[in-house]
Amino acid sequence: MQILLMGSAGLLGSTLSPFLSSRGCDVKTHSRSDGAQCLADLSDPRAANELLGKIQPDVIINLVGLTDVDLCEVQPNQAYLQNVRSVENITNWIKQEKISCHLVHISTDQVYDGANTHTEELVTLTNCYAFSKYAGEMAAASVPSTILRTNFFGRSHCAKRLSLTDWLFRSLSNKDSIQVFDDVLFSPLAMSTLSEMIELSIRNKPIGVFNLGSHDGMSKADFAFAFADELNLSTREMKRATTDQVAFIKTYRPKDMRMNSVKFENALGVKLPTLRDEIKRVAKEYHEVA
Ligand SMILES: NC(=O)c1ccc[n+]([C@@H]2O[C@H](COP(=O)([O-])OP(=O)(O)OC[C@H]3O[C@@H](n4cnc5c(N)ncnc54)[C@H](OP(=O)(O)O)[C@@H]3O)[C@@H](O)[C@H]2O)c1
Repeated sequence: MQILLMGSAGLLGSTLSPFLSSRGCDVKTHSRSDGAQCLADLSDPRAANELLGKIQPDVIINLVGLTDVDLCEVQPNQAYLQNVRSVENITNWIKQEKISCHLVHISTDQVYDGANTHTEELVTLTNCYAFSKYAGEMAAASVPSTILRTNFFGRSHCAKRLSLTDWLFRSLSNKDSIQVFDDVLFSPLAMSTLSEMIELSIRNKPIGVFNLGSHDGMSKADFAFAFADELNLSTREMKRATTDQVAFIKTYRPKDMRMNSVKFENALGVKLPTLRDEIKRVAKEYHEVA
């Protein structure tokens, strides 16, 4: 099975790529600039066709995206090119080649908002990033695909991207004064767990849209204090706040992105961990640098 990992040089790809190789998968890595075996701008149909024609993948894992929420808001066409047209270029190639190629497409929990543990149909779109990711899902759904709505944390292996826990670890270690939000709820997975679930998805190829998060989501503030507690880091400089008390947030972000991932669990026959267990798992990744 030839796997093409698109967007492999980013935050998630830098964990997923070595994980899949360690599991014996035959992976070709792709990015736009550097740090991958194949380079191509996926928003350009000619470059996308050339790359896909050369590799002839059996499975495509698509991590390509514009994840900067503020940039998506001020440059909606960039959001379209990276989060939608890039997916259209993949699916157009699959359709025109009439080959059997399964797409695993990574989407986001930002397509949810409003107090709930959301099942897949409870979509609420509140910013350009969410809109463009949702449109990308629609393009992905036009071919046999597994669309995974997720969020993740863990120690970054990507030189140009810090994860949420990298930022927390650095701020707490340096005793920087930071604010963490009581009014933003989420249910992310450790990147290591997410990598295992993506591997399961490429082997089982379930068709449809699936939430892929942890059980018992919590606020970002509770998450930050639980992470500090696991690593015995002082929380004296970390203050709880709500998003309306700070000036630095430019673009509206959803307040409640918690996901109900039972559909994924039932389709794949797995039990996903609690967020508390995921925090414990990820804290171990930082023990060696603590
Ligand atoms: N980060 C999060 O917290 C988060 C949460 C939920 C869901 N997600 C989703 O998870 C996926 C992976 O996120 P990530 O944080 O790993 O993203 P990332 O760090 O921004 O990496 C994105 C990758 O896509 C490549 N790329 C972007 N535009 C491209 C284009 N036009 N052509 C070819 N390659 C292009 C980038 O290449 P260059 O490095 O060369 O630019 C990079 O390798 C995304 O779909 C995102 O929406 C992310």
